[in-house]
Amino acid sequence: MSQNINGAEGTYSQVIAIDGPSGSGKSTIAKELASALNVLYIDTVAMFRALGFYADQKHIVLEEGPSLNEFLNSLTIDYGVSPTCLIKVNGIDLTEKIREHHVSKLASIISQLPSVRTYLLNFQRDLALNKVCVMEGRDIGTVVFPNSFSKFFITASVDIRAERRLKQLRESGDTSLTLEQIKDDVRKRDETDMNRVVAPLKKAEDAMLLDTSHLAMGDIINILSNEVKFRAAHLGFKLGSN
Ligand code: DC
Repeated sequence: MSQNINGAEGTYSQVIAIDGPSGSGKSTIAKELASALNVLYIDTVAMFRALGFYADQKHIVLEEGPSLNEFLNSLTIDYGVSPTCLIKVNGIDLTEKIREHHVSKLASIISQLPSVRTYLLNFQRDLALNKVCVMEGRDIGTVVFPNSFSKFFITASVDIRAERRLKQLRESGDTSLTLEQIKDDVRKRDETDMNRVVAPLKKAEDAMLLDTSHLAMGDIINILSNEVKFRAAHLGFKLGSN
């Protein structure tokens, strides 16, 4: 677990939890918030994407059982290796690969398996040990760090999220999908993420909800960083002290 802060109302972890659906803008927000607060940024989506991709390459059957356990036990994940290498699995740099559109589907499938979630939950808790950080994902405020001192649930309408995704794909030279196909993907992904049995995507009761559909990035970062600073000051601890 990350280092705990003892506040008047209980004990909190120093992780700033950012959850939300695909395309809500949470990655950009989490990165910029971490930079504004001068703390570490941890992208858990990259971990699920990397494992989904790697398992597919190795033709691992994605169901619970001894062979999945054996696969998980054989893994070494290196996260945040260098400014250009975000993630390695068993020594292979997957930083670029995990950004490909089809990997999102593989991540969604593997993320439904309880043993994979437990494996990454432990990995994520170890990474955040003794650090103030912004951690982005789907279940950070609900499952990984339910005692986070500052939680946000970032969302946006399906139309806006699909348009953002289309723009990203076009910028990376991918013209294979239409806006309608992406919208359909976004809806299906929401459905799977919100209805899976283990750690479904949902807002933690104590998370601040932010709809980014019509907000400028600068305003969003201001709102979030003010809230984090307020919470930290209230609990009496210093940010940016990694
Ligand atoms: O944002 P994305 O579509 O690239 O995410 C891929 C999948 O990863 C998504 O279907 C949910 C899963 N995921 C998760 O279940 N928990 C996390 N902490 C991060 C990602």
